[in-house]
Amino acid sequence: MSRIAHVNGAYVPQSRASVSIDDRGYQFADGVYEVAPVQAGRIIDLKPHLDRLAQSLRGIQIDMPMPLSAITVICRETLARNRVLDGTVYMQISRGVAARDHGFPKTPIKPALVVTAKSMVWPTDAGADTGIAIITTPDTRWGRCDIKATGLLANVLAKQKARDAGAFEAWFVRPDGSISEGASTNAWIVDRDGRLITRPLGPEILPGITRATVLNLAGAAGLDVVERSFTVEELLDAREAFLTSTTAMVRAVIAVDGRPIANRYPGEITRQLRGLCIAHYGSAGEA
Ligand code: PDD
Repeated sequence: MSRIAHVNGAYVPQSRASVSIDDRGYQFADGVYEVAPVQAGRIIDLKPHLDRLAQSLRGIQIDMPMPLSAITVICRETLARNRVLDGTVYMQISRGVAARDHGFPKTPIKPALVVTAKSMVWPTDAGADTGIAIITTPDTRWGRCDIKATGLLANVLAKQKARDAGAFEAWFVRPDGSISEGASTNAWIVDRDGRLITRPLGPEILPGITRATVLNLAGAAGLDVVERSFTVEELLDAREAFLTSTTAMVRAVIAVDGRPIANRYPGEITRQLRGLCIAHYGSAGEA
């Protein structure tokens, strides 16, 4: 079955789906996006994903092309047409088509909306995660990483650097020695006192939806959580480390730049949170 994409109001075979070469998303990466998980036909945490989409659009001064309820209808239709019950739905909105000029077009243009859907198998067994290796790399990104912008060149290069090193992810290190986040994940450690530590929200990190979910789950489970930045030294000294994202959920980090974290096995708290996250995906409504 060929995949179907939604492009500006039309459902078209993905292999033939296209946007203009004058689309500012193509010219300037002048756009934003979202990736939301889908399990058993339900879009998990739909509202926070749509709220963040609206926030990202505000952040780059693009007007909402349509109400969020209409985007939801398009997401559902795209999932249905692709027969995706388990996977992800991708939404991208760019400023639209105009002759190339850095400043916004003087006459208003229509933002371009693309929605695609992809199948994937979600994990069901928290204990099956054997952990992953990461590398660290300087944070060379722009100053508004809280906006989920399509301009991801620094993230792309960091991810490739990780893959070239045989690692799953790269965590960005800021000039002050603190870790901001991963190329496509948020970063966490558990310190020697069992405290869960992750960077507070701010312009240096994406406000991850999985990050928020894990904060809630950890709080409800009575875990000690501190939102503060942490350094590479603290990471290397941590009892546990893990990353979070829509597609990775919670995954244990067991090595950094070739050096082990604790005993190179996923830690107890990481496994607990991964289990809670798997259960959340299995039970969360679309609200
Ligand atoms: N990436 N940080 C960055 C830089 C990200 O790109 C992502 C998500 C996250 C985690 O956010 P969330 O929990 O909302 O997925 C953190 C998505 C999945 C992507 O670009 O494909």
